[in-house]
Order: sequence, then structure tokens, then C-alpha cells
Amino acid sequence: MQEVFFQQCSDFFQSSWVTNNGACVQKLEKSLAEYLDISNIISCNNGTTALMLAIQSAGLAGKKVAVTPYTYVATLSALLWLGCTPVFVDVEPDTLCLSPHLLRRRLLKQADIAGVLPVHIYGLACDVESLDTICREQGTTLIYDGAQAFGSRYKGKSLLAYGDYSICSFHATKIFHTAEGGCVISHTDEAHKELSLARAFGHIGDTHYCLGINGKMSELHAAMGLALLPGTDAEIEKRRKLHAAYDAALGSAKLIRPATREGMEWNYAYYPIFLSDEDLLLKVQRTLTAQGIYPRRYFYPALNTLSYLRPEWKISCPVAEKAANHALCLPMHGDIDQEHVKIITNILLESL
Ligand SMILES: Cc1ncc(COP(=O)(O)O)c(C=O)c1O
Repeated sequence: MQEVFFQQCSDFFQSSWVTNNGACVQKLEKSLAEYLDISNIISCNNGTTALMLAIQSAGLAGKKVAVTPYTYVATLSALLWLGCTPVFVDVEPDTLCLSPHLLRRRLLKQADIAGVLPVHIYGLACDVESLDTICREQGTTLIYDGAQAFGSRYKGKSLLAYGDYSICSFHATKIFHTAEGGCVISHTDEAHKELSLARAFGHIGDTHYCLGINGKMSELHAAMGLALLPGTDAEIEKRRKLHAAYDAALGSAKLIRPATREGMEWNYAYYPIFLSDEDLLLKVQRTLTAQGIYPRRYFYPALNTLSYLRPEWKISCPVAEKAANHALCLPMHGDIDQEHVKIITNILLESL
């Protein structure tokens, strides 16, 4: 892995072509298209820019967009930076993905909602069939935030293949990464062309085509991706085993876990547990942290409760709010071994 990285670095170093769609970026985009079996994919400098590019390309800037409150804050910030009005729609209690039933109700009440932004939370699939049907019926654009979904598959296809657009993050915390990075996937050649332009300031030479931004991935980041991509399946397999080890050790505690949809092949990126109350969660977090183990409160707080939102945007979303107060993700990485699992789960079981 390191050899591939150093070889790629040496190549671009010698050519002095270190950014602006260099050889590594082009190779990485081709390799990602093959790995995911998706053709219209462009790399970006991070997942947040990828979201902004998709929202802008879909013509949603400045409009109302239905969005899940149970996600990382970047999903929402991308909308806000583009002047969109977020319309929070609560999540399903079992999968914690945006509820199609509540979405339909909201779209029927508010005909001016122009787009929908659900998240494949923890890399688990949204109800893509229902969301697709609802968005088609209502003429609403569907953008999936698949930041956490690299390597997850549903009904034989990459989860990133669903929706009018979808995005992924290649941040260092993700299953496949480029240190910082991301991508946008679209399904028409027009959108693909526009996204490629918009990612690089919207112009070629002196001809300006559309509003752009600097969303380019550098050669250094792409080299990292080229080195890590071949190991992705092995990383997923290690995490699958780690999940099984956590499950076996924690089985007696009967912890609540999110549901996986039938037809789903998960990337096992996270190991979320839901504790019965927030005081217990804080106690478990404190105890583990005192031992140098850092579980994360993914995803806290529910975004509809953020202090800086306009009061009229803070629609109550009880399922997301409860989940946000009770969710804790245990350490999850291919390098964690059975001994670590034993230490972590023993501390956890004692705290419980
Ligand atoms: C759901 C979700 N959306 C968007 C992002 C933003 O991605 P990035 O950190 O690459 O900008 C993240 C990052 O963790 C995320 O988890």
C-alpha cells in the first residue's frame, strides 16, 4: 500500500503536475467507476463540497429542501451555504433513515419543496424504492448523502448508484479515504459535464460556462486513494468480523441496534448502540474515555435543534431527537483486535 502511494507521489512530483485533473485523479476516478460499477463519477476535495456541487447542479440553491435531522452537521451546512431552506422530516424508528411516509405527508402539505436530501446513515440503506417513487410522483429531485456508504450495496448495486445524485465522503474516518476527499455521482451526461466544470471554477480557459467553486482533488490525495482502494474489501471484511465480535460479547446486554434492510450488504463502517437514557450514555462515555477509549456520539445533536437555526425551521422530530440523545458509536477500525474488543465490552458491560 505504502509502495503504491510513494510510486504515485514520485510520478506526479517528477511531472510537476500536482493538481488540476492530473494523472492520479484521472486514474482514481476510473478505478472508482470500476469498483462501484458507476460511470458518471467526479472526485472532489471533500464530501461537503460534493454535496454543494450536487445541490447547485440540481438547481436547488435558494429553494426548500426536505432533509433528515439525524446526520452529521455537514449535510445541513451544505444546504445553508447555498441559501436553501431546510425542511426537517423525521426518521424511521428502526433504520434512522428519512421516513418515506412522513416525507410524502410533508410534500403534499408543502408543494414548494423542490428537493429531498436523505442520508444512508451509518452506511445503511434508506428505503430507496419508496423515496424514489415519492420523488417521481411529486417531481422532486432526490440527492442522497452517501458520505458513509462507500462499499455498502443494496439489491446487488452500490448504494451510491441510487437517486438523481449521490455523494460520498473520502474523509480519513471513512472506510475508503483519500485523507480529505469525496465524489459526486450523477445519472445524466449533462449533469456530469456541468459538475466537472463547476468543480473547477466553471470555466475552461477564458470561456466561462457556469457558477463554479474550487472543488478539485489534488494529486497527493488521489495517490492516497489509489494506494488504499485495493484494500477496501479487506477492510470491510475486518470490520464485519469486529461487528460479530462486538455482537457476541454484548449479546447478553440486549442493546438496541439499528435495523438493516433486507437486500442490504453493509460496509460495517460503524457500530452504533442505543442506550436507555442519556445519563447512562454519558457515564459509559466517561468510563471508556478514562481508559483512553473514545466512543463517539454519532449523531448528536439532532440537527433540527441547532441553536443557530431560524426558529421556524426547528420542526419537532421526536424520533431523531431521541436517537441523538441515546446513540453511541463504539470504536470501529480494521486494526482493532479481539483483545481490544474484550477490554471495550468488559468496561461497557460493567458500566451498564
Ligand atoms: C453524513 C455526512 N455528510 C457529509 C459529510 C461531510 O464529508 P467531508 O467531511 O468529506 O466534508 C460527512 C462527514 O463525515 C458525513 O458523515
